[in-house]
Amino acid sequence: MKAFIIAALTADGFIAKNSTHTPLGWTSKEDKQFFAGRTKEAGVVVMGKNTYETILRPFPGRHTIVYAAQPYEGIEVTQKSPQELLEDLEKRGFKELAVCGGSTVYTMFMEAGCVDTIYLTVEPHLFGTGMTLFNKELEAKLELISVGKLGENTVLSEYKVLN
Ligand SMILES: NC(=O)c1ccc[n+]([C@@H]2O[C@H](COP(=O)([O-])OP(=O)(O)OC[C@H]3O[C@@H](n4cnc5c(N)ncnc54)[C@H](OP(=O)(O)O)[C@@H]3O)[C@@H](O)[C@H]2O)c1
Repeated sequence: MKAFIIAALTADGFIAKNSTHTPLGWTSKEDKQFFAGRTKEAGVVVMGKNTYETILRPFPGRHTIVYAAQPYEGIEVTQKSPQELLEDLEKRGFKELAVCGGSTVYTMFMEAGCVDTIYLTVEPHLFGTGMTLFNKELEAKLELISVGKLGENTVLSEYKVLN
């Protein structure tokens, strides 16, 4: 079982201004619709504590898992490695995992070699500085599977990760 990364970027390449900045305010309705549909298809999502703190509720219709040291009421919390988490979810009948950020968790899954697909939406927005998709040096080759307009101003690309 593999995981996919799903993220929204500004046109200058940032996922957020800082680790407490919610994506809800600047991403488009089309991106939110794509995110909801694709993550519901997976049925299970994982995110880091900082991302969860910007929303503080599970995503409806998707099993929500948060990387955190302390429990959150009503939420599955994990400290498992990406490989261990994927093995566990496979045993529980899931077929794919949606990795929903932020930079720390995207990087952890990418470094572990557990990502086979990356969905990036690019929004018509600039931050100048901010958080990038990954926060450590890494290298991977990608194949562009599809690219197109998601809405009037938003571009969606799907990449396959080549290992
Ligand atoms: N544009 C987008 O598509 C998008 C998507 C998602 C998130 N974001 C943004 O990304 C930002 C957050 O990114 P981030 O890198 O700061 O944080 P993050 O990845 O959301 O969470 C990182 C935190 O999770 C906890 N954690 C990670 N691995 C763990 C492990 N193995 N065991 C226990 N706890 C673990 C740690 O919390 P402690 O340090 O407290 O232990 C760590 O600091 C927010 O601004 C959010 O809005 C943007």
